[in-house]
Amino acid sequence: MNENLYAEYPEVYDALYADKDYEAEVQFVVSRFEEATGREIDPPEGAHENPNPNANASANENVNANDNPTTDSDAPSALIVGCGTGEHATRLRERGFEVVGVDKYRAMVERARGKSDAEFRVGALPDLPDLSAFTADGSFDLVWLPFTVIQHLRPDQIADSFHALGDRLADGGVLVFDQIASDGGHDPHLWTYPTEEGTYARLTQIHEVGDAEHRYDALVFTPDGEFFADTHLLTDYEPEYLAGVCDALGLSVELHGWYDPDAESGADGHVVFVAS
Ligand SMILES: C[S@@+](CC[C@H](N)C(=O)[O-])C[C@H]1O[C@@H](n2cnc3c(N)ncnc32)[C@H](O)[C@@H]1O
Repeated sequence: MNENLYAEYPEVYDALYADKDYEAEVQFVVSRFEEATGREIDPPEGAHENPNPNANASANENVNANDNPTTDSDAPSALIVGCGTGEHATRLRERGFEVVGVDKYRAMVERARGKSDAEFRVGALPDLPDLSAFTADGSFDLVWLPFTVIQHLRPDQIADSFHALGDRLADGGVLVFDQIASDGGHDPHLWTYPTEEGTYARLTQIHEVGDAEHRYDALVFTPDGEFFADTHLLTDYEPEYLAGVCDALGLSVELHGWYDPDAESGADGHVVFVAS
């Protein structure tokens, strides 16, 4: 699988998803977190103006977490798995969460490090790296897999992945994940993304390749004349199956529409799972 967008071009990922409403996604999750835990979360004080002073310290993979410790022991803690370029991490930091982001691809993690002082590690489900140094007991109040991360897992990875996630979830904590519905495939489609630097373009084709698996193929063009191929295999899981996996972990699940308290769950096939 050639996941070039994640592996090599995280800055292009950000350009393609510049209009994604990260703020609404974070606010939705924080509201669910407040409801489930009874904790009150401070609103953000404003835009994150000072990026991480260690932004270029990409080699800090092996830095002991205690060298750059999380500081406020009363602060809620969040683990973001499949954190990508760090947009959710930045916004949770602005709301006072201590945040650790994990992503399969080093390039995504390095880009995320330039945006906030959250901690980031490279790691991939079904395993997770050792995160025990970041919180008192190694668990997190919020564990979130934003934007189809679950669908990047193959069916034989689901059980082990949820065990790993459950192990990192604090008692009384909240686990959030989501999935989008594929419409079963489509003819090639050209998407364009005008930006100040010029227009990015993505020519996509979706194929059904298995019972519930879809291959998302794309050719991506950047304004500076580069282009590359990018492929992702995503699985559509039955919501009842994923709810059952959570149930086996002792978590009860609410199904929501797409990161909007007013969106009806299942209306467009996009689902956000909130388990606690
Ligand atoms: C669609 S992107 C979402 C990124 C980010 N959460 C966002 O909303 O912009 C999916 C992310 O999941 C990561 N990912 C894919 N498989 C993973 C795995 N097995 N473990 C951890 N991260 C994974 C990818 O590298 C990518 O950053």
